[in-house]
Amino acid sequence: MQDNRVLILDFGSQFTQLIARRVREAGVYSEIHPCNVDPERVKAFKPSALILSGGPSSVLEGGCPELNMEYLEMGIPVLGICYGMQLLAHNLGGRVVASTDREYGRAQFYAQNDSILFDGVEDKDDLTVWMSHGDRVEALPDGFVPMGKSDSIEFAAMGNVEKKIYALQFHPEVAHTTDGSLIIQNFLFKVAGLKATWSMSSFVDTTIEALKEQVGDAKVVLGLSGGIDSTVAAVMLHKAIGKNLHCIFVDNGLLRMGEREEVVGFLAEHFDLNVKMVDASQEFLADLKGVEDPERKRKLIGYKFIEVFDREAKAIEGVKFLGQGTLYPDVIESESFKGPSAVIKSHHNVGGLPEKMNLKLVEPLRELFKDEVRRAAYELGLPEHIIWRQPFPGPGLSIRVIGEVTEERLQILRLADRIVQNEMLASDWYRKVWQGFAVLLPLKTVGVMGDDRTYENVIALRIVDSLDAMTADWSRLPSELLARMSNRIIREVKGVNRVVLDISSKPPSTIEWE
Ligand code: XMP
Repeated sequence: MQDNRVLILDFGSQFTQLIARRVREAGVYSEIHPCNVDPERVKAFKPSALILSGGPSSVLEGGCPELNMEYLEMGIPVLGICYGMQLLAHNLGGRVVASTDREYGRAQFYAQNDSILFDGVEDKDDLTVWMSHGDRVEALPDGFVPMGKSDSIEFAAMGNVEKKIYALQFHPEVAHTTDGSLIIQNFLFKVAGLKATWSMSSFVDTTIEALKEQVGDAKVVLGLSGGIDSTVAAVMLHKAIGKNLHCIFVDNGLLRMGEREEVVGFLAEHFDLNVKMVDASQEFLADLKGVEDPERKRKLIGYKFIEVFDREAKAIEGVKFLGQGTLYPDVIESESFKGPSAVIKSHHNVGGLPEKMNLKLVEPLRELFKDEVRRAAYELGLPEHIIWRQPFPGPGLSIRVIGEVTEERLQILRLADRIVQNEMLASDWYRKVWQGFAVLLPLKTVGVMGDDRTYENVIALRIVDSLDAMTADWSRLPSELLARMSNRIIREVKGVNRVVLDISSKPPSTIEWE
């Protein structure tokens, strides 16, 4: 595997993660590093090819992110994209100028000189591509030939065939570029001669071997939340170190009905995981008493979780590592290059635990994207009901009981929520939506039941489609399904006499109500 690794240097483009996706989809392992990464880390990574991402800066302005020329001396094939192309032109003796108008969006591209990059691209004589740039290359560096133009720029692609340095002004990684994946694959396989050796099963096997080595005979403690990330991390660690993995599942009293048994009980029973269930629900509910402010709820729950987890972990002797299901987007988020004043953000999954516990971190999934975690789960033999579980927030039902959280209100919400879950599963809509759940509102309305007037609670249904939770829209469910949920909730859940549907998109609303 060492000889099939692509390093992507991030110059701040919003599309950098997509480049990594395309390379991995082609079966080649890739990692993103910020453009100002310590060169020692680059050498240690031993890349077999280099991709320079786009970015919002201009090479014509002082203080713009630079390309460390040592990387070009490694003699490996290079692909520059957008700002990456301008950096190459600028640093290798070509000329970059500012365009009078910024080109953004779809454009037509015409390949030239039979470039190997466009092998097999059917429309290469008139290809739809995605552009996003202000500057353009006006003169090529020595040794480079033009490989394509667009309606507005003469050099929309260039290459030095002998040195295997290629560059594109457009973005092959975005879906709007026709055959963009093929262009990237041409670079990987035809220019760089790489092989498609990266697959999820090889990843799972090599990671388990690496975990054995990293952890040795030491003990690892891991907080199981019931979500797919911590579950997959736990199963991989278990395969590597067996009973030296100690999982802790904290029941904070804010879980859905049956959640404990469904996930954690299942893992202990069928995967032989060493799981300690800690029922701390009374502690959490005591802290939440009288609290209505959403941020306050989240904070209190976060603090309490750390306190309980720390206490339980300390009770296990000889723990050296803290296992976590941190994903690659969290890692990139905390390391990514955001312009010259790089702001380093601490990512949310860690939540202050490692600092407090003085343990070394072990994060088997830090190289994976979310859908890759699902594929890993399949490889590990996890059942569909775990693989396809919808995301569930850390603060649990507390942010879905609007206003004060009490046992009684939690119970009303649980019963309503179970009906939503069951109906979604029974109608096959569960996997089609991103999330679907019930919210208990802090108001009562009048109803009539038989001959009696009622004055009871309102449940809102929040069911959304989304790709990554950054944006979302309400799911257009069949009205019969909504009617069934509403009828059942009002009939079966004591204390509810009205159901409403949330038809807001994110933004400007959010998925959760608090
Ligand atoms: P919002 O409400 O911000 O939610 O649109 C986006 C996604 O994140 C989940 N969410 C959380 N997950 N801890 C979590 O682990 C939290 O505090 C939290 N708040 C929201 C939410 O369910 C949705 O999938």
